[in-house]
Amino acid sequence: MKLPLPPLPPALLPRPKRPGEAEPVKPLDQVKEAGIATADWVDERTSLSGFARWVMFRKVPKGTNWFYTFGSATLFAFLSQAVTGVFLAMYYDPSITHAYESARHITNEVFLGEFVRGMHKWGSSVMVILIFLHMARTFLFGAYKYPRELNWLIGVVLLILTFVMSLTGYLLPFDQRSYWATVVAANINGTGPLVGPFLADFLRGGSEFGATTLSRFYAIHMLLVPGAIAALIGAHLYLVTKLGTTAPPWLKAESGNGIREERT
Ligand code: HEM
Repeated sequence: MKLPLPPLPPALLPRPKRPGEAEPVKPLDQVKEAGIATADWVDERTSLSGFARWVMFRKVPKGTNWFYTFGSATLFAFLSQAVTGVFLAMYYDPSITHAYESARHITNEVFLGEFVRGMHKWGSSVMVILIFLHMARTFLFGAYKYPRELNWLIGVVLLILTFVMSLTGYLLPFDQRSYWATVVAANINGTGPLVGPFLADFLRGGSEFGATTLSRFYAIHMLLVPGAIAALIGAHLYLVTKLGTTAPPWLKAESGNGIREERT
């Protein structure tokens, strides 16, 4: 038989609370409480928690693996481009007389300018590589088939818009390489059937390369296309949430799990 523990000294004994006396509230609890109250306040007026649950708590098919992360990785690359692009736009000047100088200023004089410009430059290649890997994954897993054809089509438009970003961004440093590479790209566009010449004129803002071309490329690069990409990613992810993702093709559908009728 075990001996009972000796009684605690009175200093360690918890003093019984007096009626109406509450626990002392710690500052951290107050912060938590304020956070919860704010989220509740917003939720009561918007019902956003239902939407968040719909987006976040989904069933994923058996066999989901690392190849399914390419889509989210592409999304991350896009967001990184958007953030670094905003900081570059604070210093960049899209006029033919100042563009090169402002890009040089970002690299050589602005605090962390070279780093942010480098992230944006290399990030563009990363996004193109990731979008191809993601597309390859969806193609090889047969995820473009019914009922996800529309999502594939949205993806194709996203791919084209990503190329437009690369093309329009390449001109912005306005050095010899970016200038002549874009002249070549616009000329290649001009050789396309039917719409080619119109497209080349549209890109140049006339028959000649000049001041209009640069401001046009800048507007397309930082307003028009990023807006369209963001909206299309919204639609793309809505469909991913609604339809779910496709199971890997090497997994056979489970049969006869109590749903199919037995046939004799
Ligand atoms: C900015 C570009 C894009 C972003 C941010 C993006 C994002 C995503 C994400 C997060 C998913 C969820 C599953 C996964 O990651 O595999 C997904 C699925 C999908 N994406 Fe994309 N995507 C992009 C471009 C594309 C392109 C270029 C295509 C094809 C042409 C495409 C076709 C699809 C399809 C068919 C699915 C459904 C996959 C399945 O059911 O398993 N996406 N996308």
